[in-house]
Amino acid sequence: MCGIVGILGRAPVAPQLVDSLKRLEYRGYDSAGVATLDGGRIVRRRAEGKLRNLEASLDASPLDGAVGIGHTRWATHGAPTEANAHPHATDRVAVVHNGIIENFRELRAELEAEGATFQSQTDTEVVAHLASRELAAGASPRAAVQATLKRLRGAFALAFLFAGEDDLIIGARRGSPLAIGHGQGENYLGSDAIALAPFTDSVTYLEDGDWVALTRNAVEIFDESGATVVRAGVRASAAAIVVDKGNYRHFMAKEIAEQPEVVGHTLARFIDMSAGRIRLPEGADVDFAKLDRLAISACGTAFYAGLVARYWFEKFARLPVDIDIASEFRYREPPLSPGGLALLISQSGETADTLATLRHCRAQGMRIGAVVNVPTSTIAREADLVFPTVAGVEVGVASTKAFTCQLAVLAALAIKAGRDRGVLSVEDETKLVSALVELPRLMAEALRLEPEIEKLATTFAKAQDVLYLGRGTSFPIALEGALKLKEISYIHAEGYAAGELKHGPIALVDESVPVVVLAPFDPLFEKTASNMQEVAARGGKIVLFTDAEGAAHAGDAFAVLTLPTAYAFVSPMLYALPIQLLAYHTATFMGTDVDQPRNLAKSVTVE
Ligand code: AGP
Repeated sequence: MCGIVGILGRAPVAPQLVDSLKRLEYRGYDSAGVATLDGGRIVRRRAEGKLRNLEASLDASPLDGAVGIGHTRWATHGAPTEANAHPHATDRVAVVHNGIIENFRELRAELEAEGATFQSQTDTEVVAHLASRELAAGASPRAAVQATLKRLRGAFALAFLFAGEDDLIIGARRGSPLAIGHGQGENYLGSDAIALAPFTDSVTYLEDGDWVALTRNAVEIFDESGATVVRAGVRASAAAIVVDKGNYRHFMAKEIAEQPEVVGHTLARFIDMSAGRIRLPEGADVDFAKLDRLAISACGTAFYAGLVARYWFEKFARLPVDIDIASEFRYREPPLSPGGLALLISQSGETADTLATLRHCRAQGMRIGAVVNVPTSTIAREADLVFPTVAGVEVGVASTKAFTCQLAVLAALAIKAGRDRGVLSVEDETKLVSALVELPRLMAEALRLEPEIEKLATTFAKAQDVLYLGRGTSFPIALEGALKLKEISYIHAEGYAAGELKHGPIALVDESVPVVVLAPFDPLFEKTASNMQEVAARGGKIVLFTDAEGAAHAGDAFAVLTLPTAYAFVSPMLYALPIQLLAYHTATFMGTDVDQPRNLAKSVTVE
């Protein structure tokens, strides 16, 4: 994950920029760079590889500027070369960026048609050229940034440095975190409190859509509309461990909020953003054409990710999937084909049942693929193919960001399988990949439902039983929603295929039973709508999560919450967010230990 830092100092800032970037190394990167002003002119030093290479470049040719921005890049668009390293700049403005600019290709074409010349393959460079064009037309730096942000689509955090402006840095946040550090006669920007810890523990986190104009003695924060806003400052523990809660009450809340960013970074490991095609990580390539079946196994939330993946592999690749929870898989003694592929999914990479299943499949002569969040874990080390989720450290026992990152990886693998097996055309692939590329932005939009969901928590907190219903790929998300509520609020909940309601569970329904329905407006919506009427007829309280089209056809419900309209393909990653928030706010309202729920462990290392 990329790291951003900016310093308005009173002495040369280059060494401090590097010091701050060192604290961001935990996020993972493959190149780095800084930019400062020298006599008002933008000057840069960038280097491929580790920060020591950037330090060597600075030793050889120091920078004196007292204002600057820095970046650790983790390649999404374009190889990890010096030319692709940030900051990207024209003679008027330099910019560093964390996230994905979805519409960078059309913007680049527009700019090149006007004569702009690009030095890199990155999406970020279009931001520098857009701002530069505004400045050249006479806009002030603030107006130039505002106009630039309006043209960008995606989830990102940005920091801008302007030629001739040695008392100004502008930052912007949309879907990726960005924080302000408050100093004495100095001010700072950073991806998180860790980046700012060398300078200050007085931190203000920007909210989605915010942008900020920093000088050494003033901080002005604006919302998307340009209206001035005030954001609460916090004392970040200067000795913060690698992961801190930031200004969140619980790690789970922070990890829910991080999903647009970390899903974006995970996708970037599997998508060639410039080509709009799937590209598996080095050393993890697999030819799905050689498989006649795929075995998938996992536990808990990871298993639900596998259930979603089954729909995708079978629909987009016509690849039959055998899937089971890891504690049952090997005891069923399923017929497994030597040379076949077993795909194990695990956040921790240490779950005993999943590890035992890995070893069982290997003993049957199968190749092992692992979708894991901890690259040094036992499952990762014992697998033949590692498909990394890049969720960052997940502290909350209830898995959230790891789950949506697992879905992102599995979606990419299913597309790859469809291409390998000649089921998907290049056009199909491009369409599905663009649906994934816009996902971080849509997730950031879906998270804006949080205030409405928080209000619902009081209703759920009183319930004894809750039902979650879904069809198609929303069915595993219903299962996940029930698990989330159970494990952190201790309220009994069950997830069901909506079509199963009449086969028993509808006996549970009365006015005391909230029924959560996950139903984007897709070909199955009408059937689910009739299930909702069956529930309403028995006094059940329906809480429907749908999109605008679904809301227009919802019928009577206790509550209808509208998510962004999206390709059906990506709705599992989108609809996972409100069910996480619903469980979180219900548990918080009830006062349970959200991050460390009773009886549970983050990693179940015993069978
Ligand atoms: C999820 O919220 C639970 N904490 C639990 O079901 C978890 O998903 C399961 O134990 C699997 O863990 P893993 O992904 O680390 O293997």
